Amino acid sequence: MGLTEELRELKAQAQALIDKVADAEKLEEFRIKFLGAKGAIKQAMQRLKEVPREHKPALGKLANEVQDAVQQMYEQAKEAVARTYTGAGGGTVRTPTASGSGTFTDPVYTDVTLPGTPVTIGRPHILTQTIYEITDVFARMGFDVAYGPEVEDEWHNFIALNIPESHPARDVLENFYITPTMLLRSQTSTIQTRVMEAGGPPVRVIAVGRVYRPDTVDARHSFMFHQVEGLYVDRGVTMADLKTCLDQFCKAYFGHDVRTRLRPSFFPFTEPSAEVDLLFHKADGATQWVEMGGCGMVDPNVLEAVKYDPEEYTGFAFGLGIERMAMRKHGIPDIRLLFENDVRSLAQF
Ligand code: DAH
Repeated sequence: MGLTEELRELKAQAQALIDKVADAEKLEEFRIKFLGAKGAIKQAMQRLKEVPREHKPALGKLANEVQDAVQQMYEQAKEAVARTYTGAGGGTVRTPTASGSGTFTDPVYTDVTLPGTPVTIGRPHILTQTIYEITDVFARMGFDVAYGPEVEDEWHNFIALNIPESHPARDVLENFYITPTMLLRSQTSTIQTRVMEAGGPPVRVIAVGRVYRPDTVDARHSFMFHQVEGLYVDRGVTMADLKTCLDQFCKAYFGHDVRTRLRPSFFPFTEPSAEVDLLFHKADGATQWVEMGGCGMVDPNVLEAVKYDPEEYTGFAFGLGIERMAMRKHGIPDIRLLFENDVRSLAQF
């Protein structure tokens, strides 16, 4: 092969090879093969000495051109390799070069064996999950869901619920008053009045929401917590309906081995009134009665306040603590764990 052909062939070879150079090692191989002290180009230059004098200028020019072209290929490849790093999986990843317009100009090689970036998937708070479960059970029993404002007036929080001015529950130290007549509601029973004022009878609703009381915070108390209120008013509603409803709810929510009992109590808005207790079977086989909330038959004064006829209609009502239920069901020992928003606790549910 004449030197001219050989030089052209060399350039073509270099061109073909440079496209395959993807890392520093291959680049160095390329450099040694073509541009090294004993490389192909140096060897071709050596042979220039042998060519007849009259061909020397043209061939020398060609040799220089080839050398420059190969040198340029090498420089470009070197730049590309510098932007490249080797991923943990051993593969080669070329980082994209963003041009001014923000589009990628380089091909992106992705190593599919690289560990991915873990995505943290959020979830509803355990109290929200509990509320979903509770409303689900009551919805299956035919209860609608109602909501009411957290800032309430005295009429809905007390007066319509048969709680007189003199009652200790109305004390300024027992409530978060905002003005002399407005307060953060201390119970979801407020929604009973709102629902009955809006329509019916009959009504069959539960109401879920936050309530506020200036209690000292400890493992069992918080100045804010959640209640689920129930109200069912119709012709012929009896205490047996109340007992059945609560028993069925507790079995659906906690499991069929729980037992319920109603313990006589007093609330201004119900007559008779009772406390709802649940019998839990503990892990060691022992049992324990735990109070879940209050209930009773709607007091005739409450029905009259919303212009229902107490001669014709009767009803039951109950109010249960949601934190208490969630803590019992999931073995949460301290109410503060529900409000501190520490993901180490919350992520367990
Ligand atoms: N509102 C009461 C409380 O917060 C709970 C309660 C008791 C609600 C009896 C009721 C009820 O609807 O009938 O302590």
